[in-house]
Amino acid sequence: MTESAPARVFADRTEACRTLAVGLAELVSSINASGRPAVLGLATGRTPLPFYAELIRLHREGQLSFANVITFNLDEYLGLPGGHPESYRAFMQRELFAHVDIPLGNVHIPDGSVTDIPAHCTAYEKAIRDAGGIDFQLLGIGRTGHIGFNEPGSPRDSRTRQVHLDPITREDAAPSFGGLEHVPTHAISMGCGTILEARKIALLAWGKAKAFIVKEALTGPVTDQVSASFLQNHPDATFYLDAEAGAEL
Ligand code: F6R
Repeated sequence: MTESAPARVFADRTEACRTLAVGLAELVSSINASGRPAVLGLATGRTPLPFYAELIRLHREGQLSFANVITFNLDEYLGLPGGHPESYRAFMQRELFAHVDIPLGNVHIPDGSVTDIPAHCTAYEKAIRDAGGIDFQLLGIGRTGHIGFNEPGSPRDSRTRQVHLDPITREDAAPSFGGLEHVPTHAISMGCGTILEARKIALLAWGKAKAFIVKEALTGPVTDQVSASFLQNHPDATFYLDAEAGAEL
């Protein structure tokens, strides 16, 4: 166990995303060369957009194939009508999957329209285990310190479950939903325990709005009040930051 996750601070997000994307392409190809699919945990939100653009570029250049990749997304809003443009399923299709060669049967995203949520969450955890666990998990960080939608108070060993969104998280999502009243109050999210079982983790953060929580996560106490602080005790978790997000370190 490390005592603190390493932070790599780049001049800008493009450089950070290029570096990580090249590293991920190498990881996927070495796992595929060992004769098995690579299992990726994916995130949504504004942060991963330039990273997905880099993955698409590498795919177009013939340096990255998703043909033997299985994906699990971190989370999904509860209660959005099917096909809603702000659903994370629609986001992933628009920002990544439509542009690469992933077999759609290999894609897993929690379903925010199910009626039996506990059964769905148990099945999601089982699907991750059946795939052999997550090789690489991509994360953003919320201003509450959440990873996935593990808001303050989420236990270290929490699993995929229904969660209540923090008011700050809903406020941050309000512009893309056209107003706070349209932002769902609940979601399904992988738990902290689910995330921490990934063999390799990269957390991305850009901009000065994230600088304070990045500092708390990396150098503050390990506490369930800041889920990202649990990464300090992960053996292979790295923060990829632009200069603004790393400014308080
Ligand atoms: C998204 C997710 C969240 C976001 C976080 C940051 O799947 O799980 O933890 O990564 O809320 O969101 P952005 O990137 O929009 O600042």
